[in-house]
Amino acid sequence: MTRIFSGIRPSGKLHLGNYLGAIKNWIELQDKNPELCVFMIADYHGITTPFEPKKYGEQILDTACEFLAAGLNPKKILLIRQSQIHQHIELAWIFNTITPISWLDRLPTYKEQLEKTKSNNVGLLDYPVLMAADILIYKANLVPVGEDQLPHIDLTNEILKKINSTFGQTFEPVKAHLAPGARIMSLQDPAKKMSKTEDEGIALTDSPDQIREKIKKAVTDSGREIKFDEKNKPAISNLLTIYSLLSNKQISDFEKEYEGKSYVEFKNGLTETVVSFLKPFQKKYNQFKNNIGEVEKVLEDSEEKARNEAQKTLNEVKQKIGVLSR
Ligand code: TRP
Repeated sequence: MTRIFSGIRPSGKLHLGNYLGAIKNWIELQDKNPELCVFMIADYHGITTPFEPKKYGEQILDTACEFLAAGLNPKKILLIRQSQIHQHIELAWIFNTITPISWLDRLPTYKEQLEKTKSNNVGLLDYPVLMAADILIYKANLVPVGEDQLPHIDLTNEILKKINSTFGQTFEPVKAHLAPGARIMSLQDPAKKMSKTEDEGIALTDSPDQIREKIKKAVTDSGREIKFDEKNKPAISNLLTIYSLLSNKQISDFEKEYEGKSYVEFKNGLTETVVSFLKPFQKKYNQFKNNIGEVEKVLEDSEEKARNEAQKTLNEVKQKIGVLSR
């Protein structure tokens, strides 16, 4: 039986990389009738790095609007805010007690964030333990994530093995599910993942003019051929990937279509595709933004169900460690 779980930190501005690398994949999975499917706004993970408390609440709701506008269907899934399900944190505490620090301080994501933020808080180090709890509190076994999160899924499996061997069989192994064509790169530097930084990425809520401008400014490669070649033409390959994933046409179709044509013509075609792809998304997004009460209701209904589900696992673990009598 498949139980799916995934999450994203709330930035309030998802970009095409998030959509093509994660959310599109989630939407496909929700339609495969899993036993349980939980998607989470990781608002407690979001506070391990600098954030603005005054804007944070709105950012969290914006992310929910974006998820719903992108096609997550609350009839099929639970859409939750991490901070509203206290059981995640309780399970994370228990996991903390069996996790050696050496499993955490060698993780590339930790080292990167430490370097970037210069803020060595315990939450940053503990980030992946909370992820393990997010996943295992629902006994999820399939986790759609991007490549950068794979070390965290490995760690989740290490933690659950240790829980099983210390306190008795409780959790089954967890599998990562990588999105096909998952890695969408920056428009300014195809060696870097697409990020939210200005001009690096296209936000799902960008206006047609902003999109046109960003694609115009996107770096290209030397030569003039429109050809997929990640090694020699990383920038054009990235643009071709985006083009193909948004139009559901093959990359080779575009290579043929643009044979003998210029980068400018290629970029114009891509711009049109991105703009028309995002139009229905943005229409729905604005509808949700204008009916925020409805969005909050979706979250609250999901969260109530999630708390029930989570409590079952927490009770089982608490009994196993002896803090709750049967
Ligand atoms: N760390 C993930 C990210 O940055 C978000 C996340 C939190 C997550 N908990 C999770 C992803 C559990 C998968 C499973 O995108």
